Amino acid sequence: PAATTEPRPGELAVAGVPLAEIADRFGTPVYVLAEDEVRERCRMYRSVFPDAEVLYAAKAFLCRAMIHWVGEEGLGLDVCSAGELELAVTTGFPADRIVLHGNAKSPQDLATALRLGVGRVVIDSPSEIARLAAAVGPGGHQKVMVRVVPGVSAGGHEKIRTGTEDQKFGLSISDGYAQHAIARILDQPQLELTGLHCHLGSQITSDKPYLAAVRRMVGLMSRLYGQHGLVLPELDLGGGHGIAYRPGEPSLDLTRLARKLRTELHAACTAAGLPVPRLIIEPGRAVVGPAGVALYRVLAVKRGGERVFVAVDGGMSDNPRPALYGVRYAPRLVGRSGSATSARVTVVGRHCEAGDVLAADAELPDDVRPGDLLAVPVAGAYHLSMASGYNLVGRPPVAAVRDGHARLLVRRESLDDIRSRDVGL
Ligand code: LLP
Repeated sequence: PAATTEPRPGELAVAGVPLAEIADRFGTPVYVLAEDEVRERCRMYRSVFPDAEVLYAAKAFLCRAMIHWVGEEGLGLDVCSAGELELAVTTGFPADRIVLHGNAKSPQDLATALRLGVGRVVIDSPSEIARLAAAVGPGGHQKVMVRVVPGVSAGGHEKIRTGTEDQKFGLSISDGYAQHAIARILDQPQLELTGLHCHLGSQITSDKPYLAAVRRMVGLMSRLYGQHGLVLPELDLGGGHGIAYRPGEPSLDLTRLARKLRTELHAACTAAGLPVPRLIIEPGRAVVGPAGVALYRVLAVKRGGERVFVAVDGGMSDNPRPALYGVRYAPRLVGRSGSATSARVTVVGRHCEAGDVLAADAELPDDVRPGDLLAVPVAGAYHLSMASGYNLVGRPPVAAVRDGHARLLVRRESLDDIRSRDVGL
């Protein structure tokens, strides 16, 4: 992950820039993003899925530089708010390569999508059909897809499983809601249904659920062909490709997934007498997660009961993932090699609750002390995009590294930023 190198013992570097130097220059906590790694991951997706349309899921991490990188590498974008959409388009990203998601799109989301000319809107509820059709207006035209619940359970944690019936996203096939919604879309002349969409969940490390989803989706396509003579040119299987957060953890084998998907899709379509639709995929985590490193300064070390607590200057406001999903990370000491003997410690944040844990069972040199720097690898996805304003500590900055140079992409949120939104008394 994040191609860390160790030019001298303990001197961790990313893209040739020592992390200690980044901490000195930008302060801590700080997020470091390896530009080349993001770009390489985009290219890898395009070469592994040469016939598919690859959309980067903006929710994993978004800033203007990221929008440039994924655009230059030939990916499209999956957005789920007017905010993500507007940032992308005002940064120069072509609107027709953007897909708008969301189970509860606001009037502003839909209006922004139509004003900017978004490529497709993914319909997630029956009421959205009439709202969108009215917003498009008679004589207008908008491409849409329908988000379907394939009834497949997958994903690294219950909270991020979206392929089963008992959750808020999509329209069920087994209850007939998806079929009903599709019939209503076909009645709207201004809406053009280009395909079906499903997203099974996130942090999936097996290809089996994807193959099951293909069978379910092609099954539905076949019924739609029978009922309406409908041939859909696109099939969007969402994202969810799992990555390793700690050494030795499994990740999804994308080459294998691509090969198996192709075979399964061809077999299912041939059996159903349907042409093979163009595949769309929406990876977020696997594009940016491994390219990011979070860098913290240790502020306190103490014993408490059986544990040693190592407290740093960030926490659940910049990375809520351990608190939300019980995710484990493997932090590393930066800037010095540290003692040869290691200790199991609990790395905690600075926020005022006991659940503010960053790494539950971290292995660090047993002489870790205040003033040390800790790096948390695989921090590029769903950290800053889920950052909060808890305790008014201010969101950390993002620095990009490339070829031995670092540059600031997003500056630290200052007290002035926070104060400027506080307009009443
Ligand atoms: N497409 C749709 C419609 C999605 O809802 C998502 C993620 C993706 C694509 C991208 O999934 P990815 O490839 O990144 O797994 N906050 C959680 C993850 C939530 C994912 C939400 N949807 C976490 O930190 O693990």
